[in-house]
Amino acid sequence: MMKDDNALIDMTDIRKVFYADEVETHALAGIQLSIAAGEYLSISGPSGCGKSTLLSILGLLDTPTDGHYRLNGMAVEDISASQRARIRNQEIGFIFQAFNLIGDLSVVENVELPLTYRDGVSKKARRESALRALERVGMAHRLNHFPAQLSGGQQQRVAVARALVGEPAILLADEPTGNLDSRNGEAVMALLAELHAGGATICMVTHDPRYADFADRKIHMFDGQIVDEETLHKLRQEEEQRLQEQISQARARRAPHADDMTQTPSS
Ligand SMILES: Nc1ncnc2c1ncn2[C@@H]1O[C@H](COP(=O)(O)OP(=O)(O)OP(=O)(O)O)[C@@H](O)[C@H]1O
Ligand SMILES: [Mg+2]
Repeated sequence: MMKDDNALIDMTDIRKVFYADEVETHALAGIQLSIAAGEYLSISGPSGCGKSTLLSILGLLDTPTDGHYRLNGMAVEDISASQRARIRNQEIGFIFQAFNLIGDLSVVENVELPLTYRDGVSKKARRESALRALERVGMAHRLNHFPAQLSGGQQQRVAVARALVGEPAILLADEPTGNLDSRNGEAVMALLAELHAGGATICMVTHDPRYADFADRKIHMFDGQIVDEETLHKLRQEEEQRLQEQISQARARRAPHADDMTQTPSS
């Protein structure tokens, strides 16, 4: 694979194996991925194909079992947990499907939170940055509300403000519209589009093809790998075919006479 030295993110043969109850799951099976600064990338694929796992590794919330990952030119696959936490805090903003705001902190306190883990940011500077971030998402009128007092769409806007308050190099969003109705979903997508137009690098997992269309580049995953659209189509057809075979085998086992089966509706 060609190496792009200017890539913000560069992954080579990233693998992730989970071990649980003596079951080995190959959640990522050799990921090659390069993302340039300022790019907007969408990731889609069937449930369980490894999208969230990939995002967790991209965001240094988890480490790969194998492979190389360079973030902003730095090899990050083997660094210590505290270094990882520091880089995550400086470079990465997360937006989750379930908003993940802290219930007993106010709106403005939630948004300030990432900055409290940074050295040398005064209380005043924290508050000013949080106010600016909340203005950008149109939530500056709800500073002292608590998350439970906000609608889902408003909570997600606050979560976007929290993700961007530290001016991270990259925003990672895992199904950011998954818990929103279409109106609020569109509002959050418009917000991400605006941040992208302002230079943000965005990597978003989504099931929704309409939302994937907002991205500059769409990638598809299947069984822990990135596949092109044509391969995805073929894999889906094969899966469909296997399913049909399983259905006919199950019916054949149930029906004592093969003849009956063709004549009896599948009730
Ligand atoms: N902590 C874990 N321990 C064991 N297995 C895990 C763990 N996390 C994920 N997996 C497994 O890894 C695979 C990929 O999971 P992942 O959450 O990345 O899928 P996904 O594509 O995000 O799915 P969805 O669309 O449902 O969110 C799944 O088979 C899942 O069961
Ligand atoms: Mg997921």
